[in-house]
Amino acid sequence: MKVSENSCLTLAGLAGHPSPVSDNWWRDAVVYQIYPRSFADGNGDGTGDLIGARQKLPYLAELGVDAIWLSPFYTSPLADGGYDVSDYRDVDPRFGTLGDFDALVEQAHALGIRVIVDIVPNHSSSAHPWFQEALAGKNRDRYIFRDAPNDWESIFGGPAWTQVSDGQWYLHLFDPEQPDLNWENPEVRAEFVDIIRFWLDRGVDGFRIDVAHGMIKADGLPDVGARDGRQVELLGHEPLPYFDQDGVHEIYREWRPILDSYGAIGVAEAWVESPQRLARYIGSDELHQAFNFDFMMAEFDAKSFRGIIDKSLAEADLVGAPTTWVLSNHDRYRHVTRYDSLAKAKAGTLLMLALPGSAYLYNGEELGLDEVLDLPDELREDPAFKRTGESRDGCRVPIPWGTGDLAWTNPWLPQPERWNALTAQAQENDPASTLNFYRAALKLRRGFNGPLHWLNAPDGVLAFKRGDRTVVVNISEQDYPLTGEILLASGPLSTDGSLPPNTAAWTKP
Ligand code: GLC
Repeated sequence: MKVSENSCLTLAGLAGHPSPVSDNWWRDAVVYQIYPRSFADGNGDGTGDLIGARQKLPYLAELGVDAIWLSPFYTSPLADGGYDVSDYRDVDPRFGTLGDFDALVEQAHALGIRVIVDIVPNHSSSAHPWFQEALAGKNRDRYIFRDAPNDWESIFGGPAWTQVSDGQWYLHLFDPEQPDLNWENPEVRAEFVDIIRFWLDRGVDGFRIDVAHGMIKADGLPDVGARDGRQVELLGHEPLPYFDQDGVHEIYREWRPILDSYGAIGVAEAWVESPQRLARYIGSDELHQAFNFDFMMAEFDAKSFRGIIDKSLAEADLVGAPTTWVLSNHDRYRHVTRYDSLAKAKAGTLLMLALPGSAYLYNGEELGLDEVLDLPDELREDPAFKRTGESRDGCRVPIPWGTGDLAWTNPWLPQPERWNALTAQAQENDPASTLNFYRAALKLRRGFNGPLHWLNAPDGVLAFKRGDRTVVVNISEQDYPLTGEILLASGPLSTDGSLPPNTAAWTKP
């Protein structure tokens, strides 16, 4: 067995990549999620910003990503980290200016990196001028006001209704500071078409649609019939009258020609019951992609991975769309922590990056960051924390770059000491680092072509071929023999060259 030049052992000279210009770039793109507040701090105030993100573009080009997705950077009270927008057409001063945004897009494009932005249409911030007007008793039908609440519960815990001073109640499926917009009102629809055009005109290449399964509520707002926090457990498993309603698809059918006319894409964040329901969001007349959360939620287990891969590929194929894969984002524990080891996380990453379709990376996963579980309660900002005791702050701790350029002073959440060994600077020149492993994987990924064909393998081992590449993921308790040339492995091989448990490898004949 030979170890090729691209193995994680010998990584000299991985340069930036040329990004092929094609209308179908998104079908197998690697998209890197930037959580702006935590990514890179350009002005040294402890909060990440667009200037910082721009300065990190060469790093991302060298990593080998095709696109970035920016979580919200719009004007916002940051009651939910920016998923509470008070001005959809401006940048929050903490993150910069529209000029900084334009400069970021321009430089990203110059480096061959596309830019996807988040859009939050299900709800605005309660500080949005429309909601302020509604509170003053004007134009309330842009939101969902009723004389009495039903039994709906907020995803962040507690009732989904808050009473205002004149006695009416408004709906908020998330925090009270995130009132749900009324998508039955044509003014709301027209406003979002305008907002989409605003960002398309500034050169964005697509949108990640927040709570894409929201917006339309069942007629008459019927009770769910489950209370005391049980509704959130139904999410993604059972039908709910406030999510995944048929009417939501009309919105995407209206948006699609607009996106197409700019050559831009839409990716849905949709928590639905099955891959079949998810496939309804994608295809030639709706959105281009939808996050595949089943894969992210799967146990680190060969059987569950295989079942989800098969189902996801089959459903996406039926509508002629590529599927997507994701292991970490700003809402879930980082996969190093979920899987309980960096070794398993890297094996999961090699599996994900070899699958047909597009893959989403979350900032910091290329450094092997784990979840910060011991943040002091008083520093936690996730609005769900006060209501449920659960918090997403631990995956939002600022990315450790090291000393010098873009080093954090007083980051808005403290970085743990153990991350000193994981800074990008510490990993840069270490051929065995997680950073260089990701760089090698993204480069080699470009050589994967064609559909996936499973190979026979013992229980606990996933083995498949794509073109002349073979992918083996060993989740069994025994070593598994490898044949051919090892292109990349997620960890050290056994002395006889076989693949140890919790390790993955890419090979070719
Ligand atoms: C999405 C976002 C999450 C946010 C929620 C409400 O699920 O990913 O961060 O809290 O929507 O906007």
